[in-house]
Amino acid sequence: MLETASHRFTGARFFTAGHGYWRLMEWGMSPQERVAFIEHHVRLGITTVDHADIYGDYQCEAAFGEALKLAPGLRDQLQIVTKCGIATRAQPEHQIGHYITDKRHILQSAENSLRHIHTDRLDLLLIHRPDPLMEADEVAEAFMALHHSGKVLHFGVSNFSPSQFSLLQSRLPFSAGDKSAEISPVQQSVLLDGSLDQCQQLRIRPMAWSCLGGGRLFNDPHFQPLRDELEAVRQETGATSLEQVVYSWILMLPSRPLPIIGSGKTAAGQRSRRSTELIPVASAVVSVFARRRWDLMCPEA
Ligand SMILES: NC(=O)c1ccc[n+]([C@@H]2O[C@H](COP(=O)([O-])OP(=O)(O)OC[C@H]3O[C@@H](n4cnc5c(N)ncnc54)[C@H](OP(=O)(O)O)[C@@H]3O)[C@@H](O)[C@H]2O)c1
Repeated sequence: MLETASHRFTGARFFTAGHGYWRLMEWGMSPQERVAFIEHHVRLGITTVDHADIYGDYQCEAAFGEALKLAPGLRDQLQIVTKCGIATRAQPEHQIGHYITDKRHILQSAENSLRHIHTDRLDLLLIHRPDPLMEADEVAEAFMALHHSGKVLHFGVSNFSPSQFSLLQSRLPFSAGDKSAEISPVQQSVLLDGSLDQCQQLRIRPMAWSCLGGGRLFNDPHFQPLRDELEAVRQETGATSLEQVVYSWILMLPSRPLPIIGSGKTAAGQRSRRSTELIPVASAVVSVFARRRWDLMCPEA
């Protein structure tokens, strides 16, 4: 079982890694296979699940909910995270893709998520991306209404700059204590733009998404030098895979991010057991990075 992490302000407890369902519709699973997939991760201790209203052109939450309906006992074993605030043209009423964070949209999106996922509460609701037209007071009003009704237990943001986060926090009587950010060897900007500094300052453990660059780490020729560097660390430490090296590196960052795993591979049938291989973190990898961290930050230096 994995170590748990608690959030200082909200008290929400999440496990050391979560699983993301952005790509669920690509995995081609039957409802029963989805149940088996979720149960597999629960057995591993990966009980935090990451969704968004828009995933799979607005279909992923409902596909996940279909599985929960088949196995209702699963709900209480999960921490369900979802997001709102992007409007894509997959819904006919959105003529252009844009961000939308007004109160009505946030409340409606949360209601839709509850209905699609077949649950009476969301553990965490995030504003998906910064909206240039975001009225912080409106977001705060929506969060407070959802908080008072008990429909959402905790709140946060994704991909917000430190100042955008501070603005929203200034309007809330409770902590918007959760953040999500893209963190990977191929996308390291939040390490230096103040985002992770703010997390460390506020003792927020951010959720890290696309830790493997959405797979580009393995198949983009541009990242060959980085792969070579990671492979050298893997060999030096005896880690079982490049993924294990990457997740170890993310977990050792001072804000202690919680990686959100994106693979659709499970123990079921013909599929491999990628998630199992990622955990536990190899302590040897961590100690090598402690010595070579500058090499990874700037592999071309
Ligand atoms: N907050 C946000 O704005 C935001 C944005 C994007 C994503 N997210 C969340 O983060 C989660 C994870 O993102 P992600 O899916 O991009 O994560 P990721 O782990 O970086 O990428 C997963 C992809 O990489 C592939 N992959 C994994 N290991 C591989 C290997 N050894 N060789 C080749 N390909 C490999 C997977 O394929 P297989 O399935 O075949 O393993 C899958 O297609 C999402 O599901 C979502 O919940 C949040």
